[in-house]
Amino acid sequence: MSVWRFAKDFTSVPEESRVTLGEGDTPIVRSKRLGQAFGLNNLFFKLESCNPTGSYKDRFAFCAISHMVTAGQTRCIATTSGNTGAALAAYCAAAQIECNIAVVEGAPIGKLQQMMAYGANIIRVKRFGTDANVTNDVYATLQRLGERDDSALQISAFTYSPLGMSGVRTIAFELAEQFDTPIDHVFTPAGGGGMTWGVADAFLDWRELERTDYLPRVECVQPEGNNTIAGPLRDGEERGQDVECTTKISGLQVASVYDGHETIRACRATGGTGHLVTDEFIWEVQKRLAREEGIFCEPAGAAATAGALQAAKNGLVSGDAVSVALVTGVGFKDSSSIEAINVDRDCARIEPDQLAARITG
Ligand SMILES: Cc1ncc(COP(=O)(O)O)c(C=O)c1O
Repeated sequence: MSVWRFAKDFTSVPEESRVTLGEGDTPIVRSKRLGQAFGLNNLFFKLESCNPTGSYKDRFAFCAISHMVTAGQTRCIATTSGNTGAALAAYCAAAQIECNIAVVEGAPIGKLQQMMAYGANIIRVKRFGTDANVTNDVYATLQRLGERDDSALQISAFTYSPLGMSGVRTIAFELAEQFDTPIDHVFTPAGGGGMTWGVADAFLDWRELERTDYLPRVECVQPEGNNTIAGPLRDGEERGQDVECTTKISGLQVASVYDGHETIRACRATGGTGHLVTDEFIWEVQKRLAREEGIFCEPAGAAATAGALQAAKNGLVSGDAVSVALVTGVGFKDSSSIEAINVDRDCARIEPDQLAARITG
């Protein structure tokens, strides 16, 4: 697919500088049960979890690191809650670029291990990601260190890394190409809001490019404990708000507003609104995605689906509307959330002659 031409300045990156690991072109799967259980007859999942490092952040890293190679930069400095770091670490390894990553204090062990496996230098910073002041200070420090000529600061927010983030816009162009029928709603999970902004903005661009009326509503979903964007969007506000972040959902803990104001503007321009869901409902949907759909995702990857199901339950989305929920990260990322799903499961260790008696069904 040629959607990468829609990423900012990407056509200027020479073929030999493009550091690809097979990102993008992710599958669409129709919901078999979960949508209908909530009255949504046409719910689809876009499995961004199928990207090479297990999250949509590979679209960001592909563009960011390819631009660094083009510019001859050899030191990447980054922040992450886990997935951006894993993606950057992989693409840096592929490009043999030095990779330094400041990680939020509570990042799941699976994400830390993944970053370390790719050989990145990982530094966990206390209160980073939950306290807005600490988070802003970390960003300021890294911004200073990233100013060296051989270096680039990579943060997965348009405010900081517009070249890399524009890679995320390809999700919308891909969706527009993958569906024969128009999509009515696209549900996206938001931490800082960059992905949601990218998707909404790309759909607005698509309408211009194709000279069509087709415009899916981009629906921004956040956990109640990180209400920087969704509440203000829903309530008609122009601007996002800093919060004290209380959600436990890794990847959606972004206490400060970075791309929030633009996310509100772009979602509203598509006709979409904001949706707040509890952590408990996200975990429940994560489990139901696994048990009822065969989709194995991390909690943040289930948030958009939780938003879609809740919106349907509350009558905010018509039962026949074509709705897409982005499943943004794979289940292997967050083993403690999977342990919680599996509390009712047993993993028996038996003698060989006891096997037949153990087979169910
Ligand atoms: C799996 C997953 N989904 C969604 C998001 C939210 O992205 P954004 O911060 O651009 O809103 C993240 C961010 O880390 C993530 O890791």
